[in-house]
Amino acid sequence: MIGSIINGQEYNDSQNTMDVLNPYTREKEAEIALASKTEFEQAVTNSFDTFHNTMKDMPAHERSDILRKTADLLEERIDEFAETITKEAGKPISFSQGEVQRSIQVLRFASEEAKHISGEVVPMDAALDGDGRLGLVKHIPLGVVAAITPFNFPLNLSLHKIAPAIAAGNTVIFKPAEKTPISAYKLVKLFQEAGIPDGVVNLLMGAGDIGEALVNSDQVHKISFTGSLPVGRSIRESAGFKKVTLELGSNSPNIIFDDANIGEATDLLVKGSFAFSGQVCISAQRIYVQKSVYDQFLRQFIEKTKALRVGDPVETDTDIGPMIDEKEAERAKQWIDDAVDNGAKLEVGGNREGTVLRPAIMTNVKSNMKIIAEEVFAPIVSVIPFDSEEDAVTYSNDSIYGLQAGVFTKNLDRALRVADQLEMGGVWINEISTYRQDNHPYGGVKQSGIGKEGVKYAVEGMTEAKFIGFKLKDKD
Ligand code: SIN
Repeated sequence: MIGSIINGQEYNDSQNTMDVLNPYTREKEAEIALASKTEFEQAVTNSFDTFHNTMKDMPAHERSDILRKTADLLEERIDEFAETITKEAGKPISFSQGEVQRSIQVLRFASEEAKHISGEVVPMDAALDGDGRLGLVKHIPLGVVAAITPFNFPLNLSLHKIAPAIAAGNTVIFKPAEKTPISAYKLVKLFQEAGIPDGVVNLLMGAGDIGEALVNSDQVHKISFTGSLPVGRSIRESAGFKKVTLELGSNSPNIIFDDANIGEATDLLVKGSFAFSGQVCISAQRIYVQKSVYDQFLRQFIEKTKALRVGDPVETDTDIGPMIDEKEAERAKQWIDDAVDNGAKLEVGGNREGTVLRPAIMTNVKSNMKIIAEEVFAPIVSVIPFDSEEDAVTYSNDSIYGLQAGVFTKNLDRALRVADQLEMGGVWINEISTYRQDNHPYGGVKQSGIGKEGVKYAVEGMTEAKFIGFKLKDKD
């Protein structure tokens, strides 16, 4: 049994427990003890006190060292962490390995960032009465950051919150997704091994009620959440004066112009549509293809999708494993069936066996179908023809979401024009929407979220600009 970790101590004797099931074998991988109300209160008070007693005054070089040591330890245990992710989330092992590698980088970026948080001197004499005054700005930590994380990148998306929070000098209450708590538990243990003081990262095991209580707590200063739009909206509504960073959904568009390299675009988009069974916020969901190359694109795309190996995620050559649970797989299958009932064509895949949904390509879709208008978060992608650049932009922007997009063209003018017109947090040229590097700003516009991650940008959102002004002594 594994449980919450508060002030360095583990709490695993609760009667209130939950099984962690392997999404592929559906065998039990672990049992978790859910945090009680008392443990929740203990964690919040302890995080608050640890911020004031320890973290607030911890020098940058110490915060940096802890992050670097954690990265070094994780580097020694890549296989172990990757296997854990595969067992609890069903992610194909080669992708889990990639996630651990990215997590190491995030820790290293944060370790460096800790040493670069600086301030500025305000040009006070630019204002009429400012002569003889000195103004300083310091970027100070916020206090207690609640990191509420999803199942799809259980290690790396957790670190995208925890590592910048530590770099900035905050304490963290970490509430991982209840489907994937094992890597979370191991991560907190790793921080302990790296010498983090007790209480700097407190782990609370539980479901939505814990998240809700964190949002409502007066001792929490910031909520950093990655997850669904409905939960994000309710956090936004309840957070009051707390700062929030919300990384929510998307139905990412990818635009293929007639001068694109179709072979390369189809190779990339097979990955970009189906990696981790489409359970990625920036997964390619809508592919708009210029009419003159539509047939060529679709033929190649279908062929390459059929070649994907579907199976056991522990096998190194598996491309497609299970979805997180049967309920989600059935929900996605239902969305395909609804679209087909309304005139869409299922070109390939779409059959479900337990938690595994075969990669599905849809055509003849309409903009009001769920597979287009909502976030599918499943291995389902639609291919849609377009005539003009203007149409491609209009279709892509016809969404409540705006996280990342991909544009494939050799024409630089057009690439820059389209990138400017797309209502997105990020646009890639000749790269899939699904590609993310851990050091670029990442976060959506519209209902895809608020705020940015990508270590340096997350740190900005986890500090407060504090002004200190001096009235200098008049010259005698
Ligand atoms: C996400 O699903 O929001 C994260 C994607 C990534 O980090 O690659």
